[in-house]
Amino acid sequence: MNGERQYRLGVLGSGKGSNLAAIADACAAGRVPAEVTLVLSDVPDAGILARGRERGLRAEHLAPGKFRTKLDEEAERRYVAALREAGVDLVVLAGFMRILKGDFLGAFPQRVINIHPSLLPSFPGLEAWRQALEYGVKVTGCTVHLADPGVDTGPILAQQAVPVLDGDTAATLHERIQQAERELYPAVIGALARGEIQVQGRRVTGFRGS
Ligand code: GAR
Repeated sequence: MNGERQYRLGVLGSGKGSNLAAIADACAAGRVPAEVTLVLSDVPDAGILARGRERGLRAEHLAPGKFRTKLDEEAERRYVAALREAGVDLVVLAGFMRILKGDFLGAFPQRVINIHPSLLPSFPGLEAWRQALEYGVKVTGCTVHLADPGVDTGPILAQQAVPVLDGDTAATLHERIQQAERELYPAVIGALARGEIQVQGRRVTGFRGS
């Protein structure tokens, strides 16, 4: 680095943290010109916090408040304050299993991204890999999109296809999709950090692939 300020990522997750690990490792290896400055989880013993701490990252549990599927107002304020205090340029949702509302999104306009384990708009919501297997599609994949107040409805930044194989179980298909996520998510974040992606409404251009 030539003294330039790094592009700062705040990563939010509720699960095991394989996406965080891929993103942080890509940053550390110089493949993505960014740094993870804060990891937040609504789950106190989530693997994502351990994956962050193993890498020397600041990783904190922030209680979600009184609701089951979203952050309550007080919690939302604490998440926004922590991310602002860390000076994040981009909020990266990596398996964060709570819906973020307008106030949170308004604090980081066009700067909250999510990864979803299907080719949206097919199979939004929970366990998208299981939905794909049960529907019988032959190709599924993963999608990186800007977060908006809907469930998995924001403008699509990039997608990667994954085949569904004859012998697949929900677990084998999920693992194959997660391998694709570990390639796609760092690549999209790198393109955003380099200013290569343009968003005009739902029309997104400039991503050249992972
Ligand atoms: C990922 O597969 C991600 O696509 C999914 O949660 C997993 C988190 O894994 N997100 C959603 O289903 C959001 N609707 P990780 O904790 O190992 O990164």
